[in-house]
Amino acid sequence: MSFDLSVIPNKNIVLAVTGGIAAYKSAILVRRLKDVGFNVRVVMTQGAQAFITPLTFQALSGNPVHTELLNPEAEAGMGHIELARWADLLLVAPASCDTLAKFAAGLADDLLSTLYLATKSPVWVAPAMNQQMWAAKATQRNLNTLVQDGVHVIMPDAGSQACGDVGLGRMPEPEDLARQVTEYFHKAQRAIAEKFGMLAGKHVVVTAGPTREAMDPVRYISNHSTGKMGFALAAACYAAGAKVTLIAGPVSLDTPNGVRRMNVSSAVQMLDISMQMLDEGCDIFIATAAVADYRVAEVAEHKIKKAGDDLNISLIKNPDIVATIAQQQKRPFMVGFAAETRNVEEYAAGKLVAKKLDMIACNDVSRADIGFASDENAMIVFFAEQYQMQKRDLEKASKQEIAQQLVEAIHDALHYEIEPV
Ligand SMILES: Cc1cc2nc3c(=O)[nH]c(=O)nc-3n(C[C@H](O)[C@H](O)[C@H](O)COP(=O)(O)O)c2cc1C
Repeated sequence: MSFDLSVIPNKNIVLAVTGGIAAYKSAILVRRLKDVGFNVRVVMTQGAQAFITPLTFQALSGNPVHTELLNPEAEAGMGHIELARWADLLLVAPASCDTLAKFAAGLADDLLSTLYLATKSPVWVAPAMNQQMWAAKATQRNLNTLVQDGVHVIMPDAGSQACGDVGLGRMPEPEDLARQVTEYFHKAQRAIAEKFGMLAGKHVVVTAGPTREAMDPVRYISNHSTGKMGFALAAACYAAGAKVTLIAGPVSLDTPNGVRRMNVSSAVQMLDISMQMLDEGCDIFIATAAVADYRVAEVAEHKIKKAGDDLNISLIKNPDIVATIAQQQKRPFMVGFAAETRNVEEYAAGKLVAKKLDMIACNDVSRADIGFASDENAMIVFFAEQYQMQKRDLEKASKQEIAQQLVEAIHDALHYEIEPV
């Protein structure tokens, strides 16, 4: 079993705790849900507060606990409607007989029952009770009603109960509940990927081509980058369902279908636009551009005239675009490129760590058959340590095919799998 971390970080769970002896397990459940990366807010019924204090849940969730429906202060902040909208899932664990009955009857006389009616999010209930209460006709009738209403019922475990009985009615262990919830979001994400593409819903920003660093109004310093790899990647990301912005240095290539293109010339301009894209909300930043490391310290206002045998031009360092973006607090998934002429793997692995990238693709541009102007490429891809992914050798292929494989590598890293909590 595995958990998908890429979909968990921005998912919101309202955990509702009701008045059952299993309420103590919900404290651990909050921990487990937080471990996976969910945002958790806790709602408690009056009954639940007889078993465990709101303070416990406040400390564990890192959020205030919601207990009152008719609380003017709560309404001003996160009232039942706001909570209802905030939730990606309403998980009621433990769900008492009483709460199940209220849900089935459509009552709205406390915060939880009102929230249940007000939310559009999926609702899961984990009934926990004495085995006789579970078997009671009224309870089973209410559960049937809830299933018909679209509520997902997590079956209780069988075993010895707090009251001394043995039978069905134990709330599943918190680890098991956290796993079920995580898998639900995992599956939902996979369904979206299958239907809309591997990068569906993501905004990908790709930088491509060389930069031009002006010396005077007619001359510049640049490099041999053609932008082909970046343009192929932009096209592949769009085909994978992403919204794509391509920040292009001066190249003579057609804009790929569906891609938004922003032309720039210098490294400083490229950084400016890249930072703007972060403000727009960028999920994945792919830096293929061959950005000039240095620019001319003082660009001459007029054409530099031929004079003497030597011409000395002073250069100053350009900003490091990738490193700058990777340092931002709300940073996207960062993909770097390394074009080297020797010790390719060693340099690339060093750059991955030094620039705090998530993934780096490197190639040997000293090889005549691949690289800059070529239509083909061959790359080695490294991932940051936390992804626990093996490096990948992408054999020589067209830049379109390499781009497709890089999209798969990004997708796999974003959906990397870890052992269950
Ligand atoms: C010691 C004790 C343990 C209880 N355990 C459970 C239980 O495990 N499951 C349940 O459905 N009700 C249990 N109840 C009954 C509920 O607390 C009671 O029905 C209460 O009204 C539930 O309110 P709520 O659904 O608003 O939280 C228990 C009551 C007591 C006094």
